[in-house]
Amino acid sequence: MTSQRKRTAILISGRGSNMRALIEAARVPAFPAEIALVLSNRPDAAGLAFAKENGIACAAVDHKIYAGREEFERSMQVLLDLHRIEIICLAGFMRMLTPWFIGQWQGALINIHPALLPAYRGLDTHRRALDDGVKIHGCTAHFVVPAMDEGPIIAQAAVAVLDSDTPETLAARVLAQEHVIYPAALERLAAGRLQVQGNRVFCEDGSGALPAPLRVPAAS
Ligand code: GAR
Repeated sequence: MTSQRKRTAILISGRGSNMRALIEAARVPAFPAEIALVLSNRPDAAGLAFAKENGIACAAVDHKIYAGREEFERSMQVLLDLHRIEIICLAGFMRMLTPWFIGQWQGALINIHPALLPAYRGLDTHRRALDDGVKIHGCTAHFVVPAMDEGPIIAQAAVAVLDSDTPETLAARVLAQEHVIYPAALERLAAGRLQVQGNRVFCEDGSGALPAPLRVPAAS
C-alpha cells in the first residue's frame, strides 16, 4: 500500500494552513497520497517551519532571483523531478504559473480558491463578496489550467454569509471549509477516482459534490 501512495508536493507562499490540513490528512496510512515535498517561492514563508518540524522535505525557490517566470519554474521542476513528484497541490501559492509549467502537470495540478468559482476569481474574494451582498460564499478545489482560477471543479463547499460578517470573519469560516474539501479532493485524485470530461469532474463512486452542508450558526 505504502509504495502506491502518490508522491505529492505542496506549493505555498505564506501561512500554509491548507498545507497543514493536507499533511494531517496524509498522516493516515490509508490516505492515497504522501506529502513528499513542500516548496515555497518565499524563503520566509511561515508554513515551511511546520513542514520542517514534521520531517517533510522542504525547499524555497525564491522567484525574485530569476529573470523570468519560466526560469523560476524550471528550477522548481528540477526539484519536483528530484523528489519524483506525481501530484502538485497549490495551497496559497501566489504566483501565476505559465502554460509551459501547467502543461507539464496536466491532470495532476490542483488548487484551492477562497470563493465559489466561477464567481470571484482573483484576490480579495471575501471583501468583494460582502460588497456585492451575496448570501452564500465558499471555496473551490479545482484542476489548474492556464487561465487564472479556472479549470474543472473537483469540490466546493458553501458558507452562509452573516449580517455581522467582516472580510476576516467570513474568511475564517471559508478557510475552515477549505481545510475539509482540499484533502478530500486530493484523496480522490490520488486514488485515481476522478474523471474529467470537459469542465465536469466525475468521481468514480458517483458521489458528485462533496458533502458540505450549509452551516448557518444560531443567532447569538
Ligand atoms: C487560502 O485561503 C487559499 O484559498 C488562498 O490563499 C489562502 C492561503 O492560506 N488562495 C488563493 O487566493 C489563490 N488564488 P493558507 O496559506 O493558510 O493555506
